[in-house]
Amino acid sequence: MRMVDVIEKKRNGETLTKEEITFFVEGYTNDVIPDYQASAFLMAIYFKGMTAEEQAYLTMAMVESGDQIDLSQIEGIKVDKHSTGGVGDTTTLILVPLVAACGVPVAKMSGRGLGHTGGTLDKLEAIEGFHIELTEEQFVKQVNDLKLAVIGQSGNLTPADKKLYALRDVTATVDSIPLIASSIMSKKIASGADAIVLDVKTGEGAFMKTEEDAKALAHSMVAIGNKVGRNTMAILSDMSQPLGNAIGNSLEIIEAIDTLKGQGPEDLTELCLVLGSQMVVVGGKAESLEEAREMLKAVIQDGSALELFGRLIEAQGGNPEIIHNTDLLPTAKYQIDVIAEQSGFITKMEADDIGVAAMLLGAGRATKDDEIDLSVGIVLQKKIGDFVKKGDPIALIHSNTRDVEQSVSIIQKHVLIEEKEVKPPRLIGEVITD
Ligand code: URA
Ligand code: CA
Repeated sequence: MRMVDVIEKKRNGETLTKEEITFFVEGYTNDVIPDYQASAFLMAIYFKGMTAEEQAYLTMAMVESGDQIDLSQIEGIKVDKHSTGGVGDTTTLILVPLVAACGVPVAKMSGRGLGHTGGTLDKLEAIEGFHIELTEEQFVKQVNDLKLAVIGQSGNLTPADKKLYALRDVTATVDSIPLIASSIMSKKIASGADAIVLDVKTGEGAFMKTEEDAKALAHSMVAIGNKVGRNTMAILSDMSQPLGNAIGNSLEIIEAIDTLKGQGPEDLTELCLVLGSQMVVVGGKAESLEEAREMLKAVIQDGSALELFGRLIEAQGGNPEIIHNTDLLPTAKYQIDVIAEQSGFITKMEADDIGVAAMLLGAGRATKDDEIDLSVGIVLQKKIGDFVKKGDPIALIHSNTRDVEQSVSIIQKHVLIEEKEVKPPRLIGEVITD
């Protein structure tokens, strides 16, 4: 087989075979196929697309390029959750103990944040002593003992995706739905879960800016998962404004604890109940979404979800007292109000820009190697649809320096205040199961 023929076939809009796709992925991962041919091939996919079968072959070839986590020694249906990335998206921290408290084993592999989006691992590291490195054996044992564990992605998971993603980044081929879908699903499948619940974000703060694109991505990922034998479903959710109120690592741990106590922001709580209900049903612990939702509310009410979060922290080296005393978390030196410059209704609060404002305070990374400051961030005091008077605080900045002018001006510029009244954006969109 020659790569030039495979490129030509895709360039002409034809459908590739499993052998041709595997030939490319193996050849590229092993440095047999050069970057220039891979680049041309990615661009051909960008313009001509891929069928659901082709996407499943591409995904599985990437899964098979590296290690696969074996969770078969964990009893029960292992359910994973993935969000396509957002700002202030604290759901994983809440869902892991929440769903585990309902009896679903959660073996979670998480990532770090980059750019305007945050990552669960960084947030957990705001808890002093919390370590995210467990051996596969320790990981499996902890899930069997406690029902939950959170670790970083193993070094050799989907090396083909790592190499391809870096190439896509410099060849303008990141935002191709078949390439995004196969990239995300390859990592989920290699991580070993039996069932996958996807939270596909749409809006300013998301990869997919329109509902139409988000829907297409969701359909692609669900089709891939189901084709390769993992029960997969997706929920569309809004990311036109940040989720919840807190953006920043320590601040989001506090928000997660509040939510596990039943005192979290309304939007964040609702999204956790919606995603959690799906996870409990696919995990086989409830017959219906309504029953699952009642179970989730019950483990919030009786404190067992919060207690399980404490046990997770303890098992992985942190101080479980944090769940009762969040003063034990890192705190920033200064708290500075961002003030509304006029009266009116908040009509826009662009999530990606608010994410950048938090990143500039030190809460996130501009490049992969940046150090982050776990204590800093932003706590929104208002959301879209709220009325503000001139001089009211719209956000509270937590910072270790008084020089926060840049972040203040980004927030003021990207929180739009107008006379006309608007409704908050619809948080939960379609549920996609095929
Ligand atoms: N996230 C991924 O993991 N891969 C993509 O291609 C896009 C977002
Ligand atoms: Ca949040």
